[in-house]
Amino acid sequence: MANAQKNPFVKPYLKWAGGKRQLLPQIREQLGRLLTTNTYYEPFVGAGAVFFDYQPCKAVINDTNAQLILTYKMVRDHADELIAALKTHVVSNSEDYFYEIREMDRDTAAFDKLTDVEKAARLIYLNKTCFNGLYRVNAQGLFNAPYGRYKNPAICDEPVLLAIHNYLLGAGEALVILSGDFDDAVRTADHNSVVYFDPPYHSADNTNFTGYQAGRFGEQEQTRLRNTFAELTERGAKCLLSNSDTAFIRELYASDRYTITAVSAKRAINSDAAGRGEVNELLIRNRR
Ligand SMILES: C[S@@+](CC[C@H](N)C(=O)[O-])C[C@H]1O[C@@H](n2cnc3c(N)ncnc32)[C@H](O)[C@@H]1O
Repeated sequence: MANAQKNPFVKPYLKWAGGKRQLLPQIREQLGRLLTTNTYYEPFVGAGAVFFDYQPCKAVINDTNAQLILTYKMVRDHADELIAALKTHVVSNSEDYFYEIREMDRDTAAFDKLTDVEKAARLIYLNKTCFNGLYRVNAQGLFNAPYGRYKNPAICDEPVLLAIHNYLLGAGEALVILSGDFDDAVRTADHNSVVYFDPPYHSADNTNFTGYQAGRFGEQEQTRLRNTFAELTERGAKCLLSNSDTAFIRELYASDRYTITAVSAKRAINSDAAGRGEVNELLIRNRR
């Protein structure tokens, strides 16, 4: 199901909290055990580190963040216009300009008048120039990360955007892009499917980064996700899930139907600098 010839330019065009680049070797190894010639599902796709690493021919990708999913669709359907819009941001980039673009979502009526290409270019521009390079919104869903003062931010990475455009377009209808809840996204998964879940991580002290989206992914949501994982296991889908190594998650997936592997990763995005460093994460897969 992976493309026979992987294109090295097909890689994340955004920085995203929880990006999986570091864990790719371990994820590849675990997914490798699950793979057959099937449909790949990634219901929490974020910037798509695993999806782009894998470059499946048949896939369903999803994220609840509609603005993020819009960028995937614009890269696929309107790459030239998107690149032109990004080049305008490159020329205009400054601290004042950043805040001008950032404030656009405060005026809902004006924001709604932007074209989809303009909305997607805005998100990519803010993502590449904001502090720590991440998408962060406040409780009202408004983008609130400050300016990052980077010398040469890669606002318009044309070769990468064009490579992704060709890949997404080339896959045609075999590649479905959704924006909704994880549970809806995997409705069609069956024994011919491989599903990789990378949810917002559980935090034992409830201080986890939840700024992807207004609202949070608490223990109730983690439990709902485990129920989806169990249901897919029943249906015969091959599933892999990453999460933080906490007692709660270990207990949630304590079953002889699942294999839990602890891996360590360096985390760059955390609410306080002291929290950066080696942390343990879990890769959980069902036994198929
Ligand atoms: C840990 S990130 C994924 C990181 C991704 N693997 C990467 O490499 O960039 C989690 C993602 O889950 C999304 N999300 C949060 N709640 C969700 C839900 N109920 N259904 C689907 N996606 C959700 C967030 O918008 C965020 O992009």
